[in-house]
Amino acid sequence: PAGPPSEYEPYLSVALAAAKEAGAVIAAAWDAHKTIDTKSGDTDLVTETDKRCEELVLSRISAAFPDHKFIGEEGSAAQGFTEELTDAPTWMCDPVDGTTNFVHRFPFSCVSVGLTIGKQPVVGVVLNPILGETYHAVRGGGAFLNGQPIRASDTRQLSKALVGTELGTRRDAAFLDACFSRIRALSQRTRSLRCTGSCALNLCSVAMGRLDAYYEIGLGGCWDLCAAALVLEEAGGRVLDPAGGPFNLMSRRVLGTNAHLAEAVSGILADCPCAPDEPLPQPLPE
Ligand code: IPD
Ligand code: CA
Ligand code: CA
Ligand code: CA
Repeated sequence: PAGPPSEYEPYLSVALAAAKEAGAVIAAAWDAHKTIDTKSGDTDLVTETDKRCEELVLSRISAAFPDHKFIGEEGSAAQGFTEELTDAPTWMCDPVDGTTNFVHRFPFSCVSVGLTIGKQPVVGVVLNPILGETYHAVRGGGAFLNGQPIRASDTRQLSKALVGTELGTRRDAAFLDACFSRIRALSQRTRSLRCTGSCALNLCSVAMGRLDAYYEIGLGGCWDLCAAALVLEEAGGRVLDPAGGPFNLMSRRVLGTNAHLAEAVSGILADCPCAPDEPLPQPLPE
């Protein structure tokens, strides 16, 4: 892969190889009959492919780095991972981000493989095998799409911005009211909004400039964020809490923007109500 040599390169090459293998599994299953289970309900799906890809990534990572920790959406996380992040090297894997897209063959699904050291993402790989897009980054080494350097957009006016968001998996009235109040406020001030069904690919879309910002409150977990947050930071973008405070990888909330729009978007989001069991908005930074 492109990018300067770094202490993280050995981790990157294992992450890229594992993601490539998992991507091939997703691609091979794309048009085939799928075994679909629900988790919390009809909006929260898991397939054989999710489980198979997670086992595959886990086996490649643990063979290469047996002392590292591993959090995967369908395995350790589903079995009650405590969500207390330590300083130890910790891999975070979403074997299929965009499972609903995978089930419906809407072509925004990816495998996401990230590594934190000292609680910070240091390696990130996000691979969409259907569109043939592989994003990667190591801390301090820039961000790349299919080996070519990428930068977030230069859009400075909110009125010219295309903003992504997602509805997550909840469909209760309180949650939807909170979501739609944010959507309403932003759609009055931006060019348009998009929901394309993958948290990781949304962040990578900001990193390569096809979106100017993306936010979600109540997303799945750190596996959605780890790799793509690094890709966006390394592409010159901003990753923060939707209400403007510092980003917390374990918080299930994110705002990713280009270098210019963080304050404008977080200012609008901070003024919108939150659903009852969403974390309260945080104060804007001084
Ligand atoms: C989901 C997708 C979706 C987002 C959810 C995530 P999954 O991940 O990223 O876009 O709205 O919050 O949980 O279940 O497809 O891996
Ligand atoms: Ca899921
Ligand atoms: Ca996910
Ligand atoms: Ca997933």
